[in-house]
Amino acid sequence: MQDTEIPRVLGHRGAAGYAPENTLASIRYAAQLGVKWIEIDARLTFDEVPVVFHDDRLGRTTNGRGSLSKKLLAEISELDAGAWFGSSFVRQRIPTLLDALEEIERLGLGLNLELKCSPGKEKETGRIMASVLQSFWSPKLPVPVVSSFKAAALSAFSEVAPNFKRALIVHRLPKDWLPIGQLLGVSAIHCDCRYLKHNQVRNIRQHGLAVRCFTVNQAEIAARLFSWGVTSVFSDFPDQINQSVKALGIPLE
Ligand code: G3P
Ligand code: MG
Repeated sequence: MQDTEIPRVLGHRGAAGYAPENTLASIRYAAQLGVKWIEIDARLTFDEVPVVFHDDRLGRTTNGRGSLSKKLLAEISELDAGAWFGSSFVRQRIPTLLDALEEIERLGLGLNLELKCSPGKEKETGRIMASVLQSFWSPKLPVPVVSSFKAAALSAFSEVAPNFKRALIVHRLPKDWLPIGQLLGVSAIHCDCRYLKHNQVRNIRQHGLAVRCFTVNQAEIAARLFSWGVTSVFSDFPDQINQSVKALGIPLE
């Protein structure tokens, strides 16, 4: 599968503007909106089970306290990950990566899996996520993109599952993005839209890589980024950004 088959707009953490991020409800909401691809974050519990969750700290989006990386899956599974967002989401759980993959397969979605790592656990995270994805990703679905801010996680991932597409995530594009990207064999750079410059997009695209931007929730920012040559954007409100992209006549890939 080519990068050009990845749509212009991906749902961020599922559809995080409408449902509690990184829950099954958020994944389902994205599908209901007609989104074709989603991004979700995954990290390891203390007993090294991949779960779908953004922060290391539990407090922002659950009724738990402390670090997810210091808790067992059994403890994590008890937590409410939906009530903070709204009463209709009470009893949403932190999904395991396997739960999420099953739901994604049922819904026929494309996936960008972002690897989140505790400090010092980059290699384990990459290896474990790769073996789960390799064993359980449905071959009927498009080949997923695996991304991370951590080069070591991507490198360990690629040793186990070299055929999956990889992307390096950056806030500010580092000067040495090209040799790092080449070493990791990435097909894209995922950039924070707050810091990205037009000439950087041009430069990355000239080297044959896709540029995907997070997190884009305003139509005018999406329009500017696409006019620069950005390939895709991640949005908490993917339906709204999709509509404005269509209105501007930017073809949806
Ligand atoms: O993967 C794109 C984006 O999600 C990276 O930042 O913090 O939202 O996971 P963050
Ligand atoms: Mg993310």
